[in-house]
Amino acid sequence: MRAALLILLGLVIGVIGTSQVMNALAARNPMPKAVMHTMGYHMGELKQELKTQQCDAAKIQQHLLRLQSTATDILPTFGIADKGFADDANQLQTRLQQAAVSAPATCAALAAALKPVGETCQSCHRQYR
Ligand code: HEC
Repeated sequence: MRAALLILLGLVIGVIGTSQVMNALAARNPMPKAVMHTMGYHMGELKQELKTQQCDAAKIQQHLLRLQSTATDILPTFGIADKGFADDANQLQTRLQQAAVSAPATCAALAAALKPVGETCQSCHRQYR
């Protein structure tokens, strides 16, 4: 009985220890996820504007610029030295720049500007996420 309890205790401690190690590893570099969550937030806000058909040029521009500047953090924080990954990250920057320069002022213009951006998000996620 005592031996069984000790084995159980050992298992429990092992599980707790493992999850703590996993958490510590994830916490050591929170940046990659933080960059993605920040972009996810701004994309979400833009999609919300489309959904509610309330497209405000100034707000759109702010989210696009935040996306554009956040995208420049992908390569330095992920540390993935893969050509395909770098290509996607660079393509995202180019497309976000084009979207910001086009300064969408209507929902139709916003939808058209976001399409190539969303395709690049997906292209990288399909392969590297
Ligand atoms: C160059 C590659 C690349 C591009 C481009 C990219 N992502 Fe990601 N994204 C990733 C990877 C890799 C992960 C998985 C990160 C992880 O789990 O640590 C990810 C994960 C995410 C997540 C989930 C975060 C989490 O906690 O798991 C969100 C949200 C996200 N990306 C949003 C976006 C949006 C929005 C765009 C486009 C504006 C985008 N991503 C473009 C590579 C990319």
